[in-house]
Amino acid sequence: MLIKRPPTIPAAAITPPAVYARRREFLRTAALAGLGAGLAGALLRPGTAAARTARTPDPERVIAGIIPSAYSTDEAWTSFEDITKYNNFYEFGTEKFNPWRNAGALRTRPWTVVVDGACARPGEIGIEDILRDFTQEERVYRLRCVEAWSMVVPWVGFPLGDLLRRFEPSANAKYVAFETLYDPKQMPGQRRPVLQWPYREGLRMDEAMHPLTILATGLYGEILPNQNGAPLRLVVPWKYGFKSIKSIVRISFSEQQPPTAWNQMQPDEYGFYANVNPHVDHPRWSQKSHRIIGEGLFSPKQPTLLFNGYADEVAPLYAGMNLRRFY
Ligand code: MTE
Repeated sequence: MLIKRPPTIPAAAITPPAVYARRREFLRTAALAGLGAGLAGALLRPGTAAARTARTPDPERVIAGIIPSAYSTDEAWTSFEDITKYNNFYEFGTEKFNPWRNAGALRTRPWTVVVDGACARPGEIGIEDILRDFTQEERVYRLRCVEAWSMVVPWVGFPLGDLLRRFEPSANAKYVAFETLYDPKQMPGQRRPVLQWPYREGLRMDEAMHPLTILATGLYGEILPNQNGAPLRLVVPWKYGFKSIKSIVRISFSEQQPPTAWNQMQPDEYGFYANVNPHVDHPRWSQKSHRIIGEGLFSPKQPTLLFNGYADEVAPLYAGMNLRRFY
């Protein structure tokens, strides 16, 4: 999590937020029109103007029945290569290329997620049931890391809220806690105390139920590569990437704010909320701009937008909150 950045942003690189919002609105309407038209994920697939790199899907890994989402951005996709070879997944090492090299042997079938805590119907659900029961959508979301880089990923997934509702959270469920698999045999990074294992994350209940929050099961139309958090990982597009916990085995409803891995490690640097916010710097670097992976080290930095460009949708969740204090 330690990349430094030069400070300048050329004015020409800035897309006015209103233009950005209008483009997204257009796409949302187009996507909605496409729902039910049997496009099966064809919208914004490689080969369209939005795609930077074409990819022939691996037939063994294709997820059937994907529908385009109403929530995608229209940004050019980062290449499959960059998305799957430049990762943070400390269970497999702390260098960006480690997860791609080391995560291949992780067994992701069978895989069960336990859902417990403050809910009427605690239980567990297998990954095959998840894939069968919840409509898989393609959602093009930017993943903005706290280290000042980002990628635009065509995720495949479904709203987290759809899964949570099945377990009937009670009125005491104020937060949702997530846990990654703990298995040092399969995850060699867990043999070293770089973080308190297992990796933990959490959301406030309203954040978890927000329709932009998804559980991802795939990307580029295929089942999720292990290094990206197979078989199931969180994606919260308005928050820094460390909230997007990978390889989830437990989801618990709780009344108290749950502990989270990076906050436990460095509480003054990584907060519970971790909303993308250009006005709140990380103690060791600015958060005002970021580099898009794949555009080259010397490409102009992009200005970072409040809530990663999703202010219209999510700012009301934080009305009246001091975002500097609750970082
Ligand atoms: N989840 C687990 N279990 N372990 C991790 O080390 N890293 C986080 C997040 N989820 C991490 C994790 C961080 S810091 C980021 S930026 C994103 O995963 C990176 O996701 P990606 O590798 O798919 O781009």
